[in-house]
Amino acid sequence: MHVAMIGSGYVGLVSGACFSEFGVDVVCVDKDQSKIDMLEKGVMPIYEPGLDDLVEKNVKAGRLTFTTDFGPAVRNADAVFIAVGTPTTKGGGHADLSYVYAAAKEIAQNMNGYTVVVNKSTVPVGTGDEVERIIRETNPDADFDVVSNPEFLREGSAIGDFTHPDRVVIGTESERAREVMRELYRPLYLIEAPIVFTSRTSSELIKYAANTFLATKITFINEMADLCEKVGADVHDVAKGIGLDGRIGKKFLHAGPGYGGSCFPKDTLALVHTARDVGAPLRIVEAVVDINDKRKKAMASRVIAACGGSVAGKTIAVLGVTFKPNTDDMRDAPSLDIIPALLEDDATVRAYDPEGMEEAKKLLGDVEWCKDAYSTMNGADALVIITEWNAFRGLDLDRVKSLLKSPIMVDLRNIYEPEEMAESGFQYHCIGRGTAGA
Ligand code: UDX
Repeated sequence: MHVAMIGSGYVGLVSGACFSEFGVDVVCVDKDQSKIDMLEKGVMPIYEPGLDDLVEKNVKAGRLTFTTDFGPAVRNADAVFIAVGTPTTKGGGHADLSYVYAAAKEIAQNMNGYTVVVNKSTVPVGTGDEVERIIRETNPDADFDVVSNPEFLREGSAIGDFTHPDRVVIGTESERAREVMRELYRPLYLIEAPIVFTSRTSSELIKYAANTFLATKITFINEMADLCEKVGADVHDVAKGIGLDGRIGKKFLHAGPGYGGSCFPKDTLALVHTARDVGAPLRIVEAVVDINDKRKKAMASRVIAACGGSVAGKTIAVLGVTFKPNTDDMRDAPSLDIIPALLEDDATVRAYDPEGMEEAKKLLGDVEWCKDAYSTMNGADALVIITEWNAFRGLDLDRVKSLLKSPIMVDLRNIYEPEEMAESGFQYHCIGRGTAGA
């Protein structure tokens, strides 16, 4: 089985490497020569745990190659995956499909023999139909099917998510295409991963429905946390108490500063627009988008309040700037709302992140970047934890207190226990669990 993966970004690279691990012959294609050069040297363009080893192993085994040369990769392939970006359109909220359509055209110009064209990029309902139309128009003799096969990879655990998925969704009405997809995912049959075969349209919608549901779940618990603060309840206990109900489930009930990342903000917005366009508005998701945007912005006010109403002239130490741990991804990270607001209020911001600083430097000006957690807080007026990297979970609290000018900690991820923090003499501010020592 030969696969061409068009687009060697996050999804394409992880999926390509994992398929090669399944024994498939994979060529990852990208227009960016420098990215391909890096990959050929074994340097990963993104930080994803385990990816470098997986790539190295499969390159050595001769099952995984990289190229900018579209033609031969597509000509040899039984299945061509489209895994290019679908950013939000400028000024709009729709997904920008120009890269997907350009890839479809180029695939049509190069395909040879029966080919399954698989959409892995997150694309709005109906995109598969348009990809099919473009291929047919460009190459009327082509023998092909277009399949939807959305990815559900979480950054930081993408390899595990690919190799041990909750489910694989395959959308096509063609039995011939289904057979090719079955063959590709055969190793997952051994571990009895559920495979959902459905129509292309349903498959496209499943991806958006999954992400918007998860974003809604997070937003629900975030609002519940705000309510907990008002009535003196503990959101951890509330989340546990509801999460043990099998119908609700305990995952994605961690209250925090609002969701970010490459998927939830973009996908919720795109689905809102699709739904409005077809006259079936999703009012719950519209509220989620609005609440989450406002929440990220409101987090800076919490820090300011914790510092006595003003941060002017004060030094704020920030730990963690990526949208979540185990990634260097800064897309729609809450830090991008919080840090500029603190700077705007004339604070000095010192920050540290284990993997995200290179990327963050491009997006956040006027921040003093530090070499580790403790040097960041040295002499600062308050400490703010924005991302829950493991390295920040077990800080030496006596040392933290001795380094800070005043023992103020704002923990936007609830990684410490309010009572213990109060006992340690901190003014500890967290989300939805009361404010100990304040
Ligand atoms: C998500 C989906 O989980 C994945 O299936 C999809 O394919 C891509 O989008 P990812 O963006 O990597 O994956 O991150 P995820 O772990 O889902 O977290 C998204 C955001 O929600 C992060 O900002 C995270 O901090 C936040 N989050 C998550 C919470 O605030 N609380 C939670 O309980 C869970």
